[in-house]
Amino acid sequence: MNLHKPVRIGTFTTRGNLFLAPVAGYSDAAYRSVCIDAGCDLAFTEMVSSEALTRDSARTEALLGRAENETEYAVQLFGANPDVMARAAELTARRWSPALIDVNCGCPVPKITRNGAGSALMKEPGRIRDIVRAMTAAVSTPVTVKIRLGWDDDSVNYLDAAAAAVEGGAAAVTLHARTRAQGYSGKADRAAFARLAASVPVPVFASGDLHSPADAIDILSGPAGEARVAGVMFARGAMGDPFIFTRTVAAMEGLPEPEILGPMRLKAARAHFALSLGFYDRHVACVEFRKQACAYLRGAPHGAELRARAVSCATPDDYEAFFGAWEAAISGATGNSSA
Ligand SMILES: Cc1cc2nc3c(=O)[nH]c(=O)nc-3n(C[C@H](O)[C@H](O)[C@H](O)COP(=O)(O)O)c2cc1C
Repeated sequence: MNLHKPVRIGTFTTRGNLFLAPVAGYSDAAYRSVCIDAGCDLAFTEMVSSEALTRDSARTEALLGRAENETEYAVQLFGANPDVMARAAELTARRWSPALIDVNCGCPVPKITRNGAGSALMKEPGRIRDIVRAMTAAVSTPVTVKIRLGWDDDSVNYLDAAAAAVEGGAAAVTLHARTRAQGYSGKADRAAFARLAASVPVPVFASGDLHSPADAIDILSGPAGEARVAGVMFARGAMGDPFIFTRTVAAMEGLPEPEILGPMRLKAARAHFALSLGFYDRHVACVEFRKQACAYLRGAPHGAELRARAVSCATPDDYEAFFGAWEAAISGATGNSSA
């Protein structure tokens, strides 16, 4: 069975059902671009503050820049005030024409939840409904939501939160199958995906513990006889590994998984860095790319030494030398060329 298929989300139809999750500090235009080249069907921006956006913050605008190969993307907004979220959605739709506008109902960071935004919205499904309703009244772009299981184990309410979002007009719901209290640790509850897919009339996307093509296939196939999610999102599983999309597309289409060799990873990292230089001021690009470089080095020969080198790169020349050392490590590694 071919599990790789388009999804209709309101008036928008995706190329396929394999997405890059919103990941603050990682899923910027440069990385989204590399993932799209590797087979990602739709990428989400990191969460963008509706308050800052409506105040016209230049830095916030920089988060919304789009890569050349991003013919379509999804913008995620956060906030707790329906009017501000509606104004931010209207501005986003007018200036950046995203395919979707997503509402963050999952961020667990106190700075965000203290203001009633992110996962604090899980405590107020009525507010989720009001936010989505205000946004859908302001834009014709489909509005989607990304929720968690609930605030904590004693208040698991994702079915109610999703129903409220749909009542407000949400065209799809992504579930990160952990509670706010779990943060990013502990196992995601896979059984919740099928329960949510059975309970709402819109597509459901799965997030949480997606680290391999097998995870994606397992979640998309779902338990026998139960409702299925329409798509999956890679988050940490894609950090430093854009080829997770290439391998997963092949696996979803029943094709043999391509082997991703060390030189391909190096080439992707180089392309990623070059794109970053185009999006950011040179110094910012160099500092920001350190964590990305470390992520790419997972499993590379001499990874520890190369990581130590990556974290002190401060100029494009430093990165050239770093990439050269990485290349030498790959060619010097015997019997380890696929690392
Ligand atoms: C560093 C980091 C930043 C994140 N930023 C966002 C964000 O901006 N918006 C959002 O909806 N989720 C965010 N997430 C959550 C991810 O989108 C995803 O739901 C979560 O990591 C679970 O997937 P995983 O277990 O496969 O990583 C973030 C996660 C991490 C680790």
